[in-house]
Amino acid sequence: MKVYLDNAATTYPKPKQVYSAVMNYMTNIGASPGRGGYSNALEGNRVVFRGRESLMNFFNFDKLENVIFTPNITASLNTLIKSVVKNGWHVITTSMEHNSVLRPLSTLQKTKGIELDIIPCSPDGLLDVELFKSKIKSNTRLVVMSHASNVIGTIQPLEKIGEICRKHNIYFIIDTAQTAGVLPLDFHKLGCSALAFTGHKSLLAPPGIGGFLIDDKLNEEAEAFIEGGTGSLSESIIQPDFLPDKFESGTMNTPAIAGLIEGINFINNEGLDSIREHEEFLCQSFIDSLLNMNGVELYGLKDSKQRTATVALNFEQIDNSELSFLLDSEYGIMTRPGLHCAPLAHQTIGTFPKGAIRFSFGAFNDIKDINYAIDSLNRILKRM
Ligand code: ALA
Repeated sequence: MKVYLDNAATTYPKPKQVYSAVMNYMTNIGASPGRGGYSNALEGNRVVFRGRESLMNFFNFDKLENVIFTPNITASLNTLIKSVVKNGWHVITTSMEHNSVLRPLSTLQKTKGIELDIIPCSPDGLLDVELFKSKIKSNTRLVVMSHASNVIGTIQPLEKIGEICRKHNIYFIIDTAQTAGVLPLDFHKLGCSALAFTGHKSLLAPPGIGGFLIDDKLNEEAEAFIEGGTGSLSESIIQPDFLPDKFESGTMNTPAIAGLIEGINFINNEGLDSIREHEEFLCQSFIDSLLNMNGVELYGLKDSKQRTATVALNFEQIDNSELSFLLDSEYGIMTRPGLHCAPLAHQTIGTFPKGAIRFSFGAFNDIKDINYAIDSLNRILKRM
């Protein structure tokens, strides 16, 4: 028996229609969009157009050309952060961020001398809005933060932060790696300047496709980041300054965009709310069962409505990496131990440097998977 419980890293399996769309593109279309006027290249253009349209509608956004494709959310966050931030800026982030936010910002601290404030969150991973307000200074120009933790799933009060950013004229970039396809996301309600997403997690697409939505004001502040062939203005050696070409150089992963469209269709057909309800149920069942076990340390909020279905824990009896290894090798249960590319999040919850074992549930898990995981944990712990 194989049970995949690492959906926070990447979701698996994908809906069947996602596999079919990728295969169809690879088999029957193949061509690169924007790189020729022949029929298959034009069909590629249509797929990219439909991909943008589907993301624009999904995030309740209004400008098609401001929907940008990248290979993944790390590329999106690097592009946004590094193309925007200027010398002398004060930038705020939180201690719950992934290294895809912390590393680019730390680099800019060295190369551009920006002032970086990493606000410590509570041990449950929550950002205190009052503390956040108290950190704002006259040169605060940017806030970058995630919607939910990739370690303990804590959902942040993004709308409140967005409102404060708007009031103070501060750019607000959000990392939705753990929430796109999990929670309803409305670009304007969130009050953000840019929303970075990835396809391969809860949007149920293959790896290799991500992107961002950017408003005009932040776009005006931003320089192009990756430059090269766009299939447009090829007579010029200067990168086009119009969207989406400004940020989209190089051959696109069109098969993955075809898959992403079907991932979003699947979510829309099933209903985002009903997928969320299912994941909340799985998460709460797992948490409730864990609370009856001996020697368990469970991090984050205990109410599944305040978190995503990502649960990190440790046991007194066994190291988290060894436990993850035994779960896989003896029971076929796949989990992720360690630090999850989020060292400061682990410092915040008190698990640095040993890390924790992470179980993350997705749309295709069911209650049998939860019961099997609990039963397997009990069997392993019994012999310790
Ligand atoms: N950021 C992904 C994770 O949390 C890869 O596992």
